[in-house]
Amino acid sequence: MKLDISIYKNRRDDLLDKIGDAVAIIFNSHHVPRNRDSEFKFRSDSYFHYFSGFPEAESVIFLCGGKEKKSIIFCKDKNIEYEIWNGELHGPAKAAKDYLFDEAYSLERLDEFATKLISKFSKVFMVLDDNDSNKNRVHSWIGNNKKLKRSGSRSPEMIIDLSSIADQMRSVKSEDEINIMKLSGDIASKAHIRAMKKTKPGKYEYQIEAELLYEFMQNGALDPAYQSIVASGKNACILHYIKNDQKLLDKDLLLIDAGCELDGYASDITRTFPISGKFSSSQKDVYELVLSAQLKAIDKVKPGNLFTDPHDAAIDELIRGLIDLDLCQGSFDEVRDKQLYKEFFMHRTSHWLGLDVHDAGEYTNPDSTPIKLTKNNVLTIEPGLYIRPNENVPKDFWNIGIRIEDDVCVTDNSPNILSQMAPKSVKDIESIIGTDG
Ligand code: GLY
Ligand code: MN
Ligand code: MN
Repeated sequence: MKLDISIYKNRRDDLLDKIGDAVAIIFNSHHVPRNRDSEFKFRSDSYFHYFSGFPEAESVIFLCGGKEKKSIIFCKDKNIEYEIWNGELHGPAKAAKDYLFDEAYSLERLDEFATKLISKFSKVFMVLDDNDSNKNRVHSWIGNNKKLKRSGSRSPEMIIDLSSIADQMRSVKSEDEINIMKLSGDIASKAHIRAMKKTKPGKYEYQIEAELLYEFMQNGALDPAYQSIVASGKNACILHYIKNDQKLLDKDLLLIDAGCELDGYASDITRTFPISGKFSSSQKDVYELVLSAQLKAIDKVKPGNLFTDPHDAAIDELIRGLIDLDLCQGSFDEVRDKQLYKEFFMHRTSHWLGLDVHDAGEYTNPDSTPIKLTKNNVLTIEPGLYIRPNENVPKDFWNIGIRIEDDVCVTDNSPNILSQMAPKSVKDIESIIGTDG
């Protein structure tokens, strides 16, 4: 399933309306070396992909606003030598036709054309991130025009960050995007189910990672959305654990944080379950608490609520439970005000989700208040508890690390849980663990 190419053109037209009499320049990423002469698999820059759908590295698009609105793509020329080794290139003519650009030129001519194109505008929009080479390139085009000043050339006076306009567009998903993200969620959910079924004590974490990748790829999601976390026992208390090289032990939990990428769109799901197939009583107590916090947080995913409301709801529930389990001591207000819960829950409950797993979009307004949720935002809800060995904590709880994460779309009615298919009740998960191990 792929978005229709006309969607990318419509986004460019939308952006042209928003920037007015200015030019927007969007660069694709380059191939990244892995070691010696091998490269990581290429993945387009998310902004470039959002506004073009064009899959070739190094390409650049120019959206020229004002009276003579037009979109231009610069890409590699056809080159049989290159194509024999690396695969077919579109070349400018086919790129323009297939991807609905008004004009297309060879990348070889980028500097020459860009210098002329930007001289017509006083404002340049580009994504201002830490990519210095793109900034240097734009500065060099501005510099070229300055040198030509005496021959009547003008040059832009302002470079403006494109992110604020583009992020606003990216953070409210269209129905087509939500359909793809649902499919991405379904595939990742199937992968979690497969992982649960294949889990058996004595296997290795990487064998379970292989089952996840198998299910992603069998369903047409050719890449994980991020490095999968398959963390058994104490490894679950390492938030970014990706070594995935330990043996699964009977008494431990397995935390899997894994999602796939479909037509660029990420899913991001975490499930935690007992390797033996049966929770111990302390594991179950902590699991039920995290699940209850997650359900309370999901209930807050409503248009008009603050982005922070789900986090606050999760924290309230976790604090109540941590006091009940005697893992935190003191009154509710004390534990909240002194943030004593942070020993066990140290990350945020949510982030935006889309082309990037931590997707584009603001979290606060200019006055620092939290942003409000609007219809068709997609965010994760992922509370957790991570209990490291500590003499103030009963030993039964040591090394329990639990996170439950779903992908949730804001609607006018109940939240649309895109990762709904992945089981999470104690009963449902205990009934499938190891059944195909
Ligand atoms: N898998 C990355 C995250 O949950 O934020
Ligand atoms: Mn996440
Ligand atoms: Mn995750």
